Amino acid sequence: MNILVIGGGGREHALVRSIRRSSIVKRVWCAPGNAGIARDADCPNLDIEDQPTFLRWIRRNKIDLTVIGPEKPLTMGLSDKMEQEGHRVFGPSMAAAEIESSKVFAKEFMARHEIPTADFQVFESAREAKDHLRHQEDRPMVVKADGLAAGKGVMVCAGREEALDAVNEIMEKGAFGEAGRKIVIEDRLTGPELSIFVLTDGYDMKLLPTCRDYKRAGDGDVGPNTGGMGAYSPVDNVGEEILRDVEHRILQPTLRGLAAEGRPYRGVLYAGIMMTEQGPMVLEFNARFGDPEAQIILPLLSRSLLEEMASIAEGSLTSGELDWHDGCSVGVVACSEGYPGAPVVDRKVKGIEKAEALEGVQVLHAATRKAPRRTVLTSGGRVLTVVAQGTDKENARARAYEAMGLIEFEGMYYRQDIAGENQKIVASES
Ligand code: AMP
Ligand code: GLY
Repeated sequence: MNILVIGGGGREHALVRSIRRSSIVKRVWCAPGNAGIARDADCPNLDIEDQPTFLRWIRRNKIDLTVIGPEKPLTMGLSDKMEQEGHRVFGPSMAAAEIESSKVFAKEFMARHEIPTADFQVFESAREAKDHLRHQEDRPMVVKADGLAAGKGVMVCAGREEALDAVNEIMEKGAFGEAGRKIVIEDRLTGPELSIFVLTDGYDMKLLPTCRDYKRAGDGDVGPNTGGMGAYSPVDNVGEEILRDVEHRILQPTLRGLAAEGRPYRGVLYAGIMMTEQGPMVLEFNARFGDPEAQIILPLLSRSLLEEMASIAEGSLTSGELDWHDGCSVGVVACSEGYPGAPVVDRKVKGIEKAEALEGVQVLHAATRKAPRRTVLTSGGRVLTVVAQGTDKENARARAYEAMGLIEFEGMYYRQDIAGENQKIVASES
């Protein structure tokens, strides 16, 4: 098969590496890709917004399957357009992807289908939102921009004053532009977080190993929210009972609900869950693999994900089981100084080969570009993910940090505490 992966981050590097493990693959392209992906795939210069030219390229290169990594092309309807033209795609339709692209849709959908999530209200004007807040008890709340805001549209607030500021920021100052035309104000939940990924053809599903992502920039979960600073999988103490509960209360009603509303979901669905004292509750859904979660989870799969993705693109999951390696996977993200604000770029990255020479270690590139004489330069905030497999979490973690210690670029920073603590996940009471 000839495969095209759309995207150019660490997630797409992990997808390319997983796809290449398949015996049915002939050639892999990735657009736009990056300096690391270019070692594993061809990176053509393709503009997916110029659809006629893009579709001509797909035909000319006899692409059998296109795998869409990021949310933006999905929410632009790339999957729908390609299918209309008779091409196979892994990635949900625009209507199904609305579960990520509109928080208002996602919350109202969950309310319609009784899927556990924080109590919320939707506002279309700053005045109404502020009036509402002034009449509420002063308590922790979360203010969310409706649309896509590169992971930054969620403001977790300690109380009313902060929530009023968040409303100002989003609706009056327009911090996220159109994405903030509507907002959701919801109760702030507490508990450990869990990322759950399922492969689905819209009706049946296969769960991937659980994952814990670290979103804050600083050790001990302080500092600004980021796209994700590292992750590990599987998560401690999440047994079958919890997973069945999540499946039963959250995943099944979500897939059933989407199908019933005429938006069957095909692809990988990402549920961000908080394990509260009332049981698992949904913080958000995403219509794609997590980044960096994909970098951490995919190496645990005993074989390529390609057969499963190709089968879903044809309309149904394969009949086989997914086999996973025992042990644990830990990934740590190296960032540029200035991230998540304005990252400083064009710094020379050293030590990648040395790091990859360690047993069980991979370096997946996220924001890198090639320069002359085999030099790799940084080109964005999250530069690369060092991923290590080990017999257990401690072993995988030690390998990941040993490898990270071999990599350097000016201004580089990373969290020191990824996979460092033992998480307590409580089984739900009811
Ligand atoms: P989201 O993009 O909706 O997942 O939000 C990003 C992060 O904000 C989540 O991973 C949580 O840490 C936090 N968050 C979102 N919603 C809530 C909530 N209702 N209560 C507490 N934390 C939340
Ligand atoms: N790591 C969080 C995300 O991919 O949305």
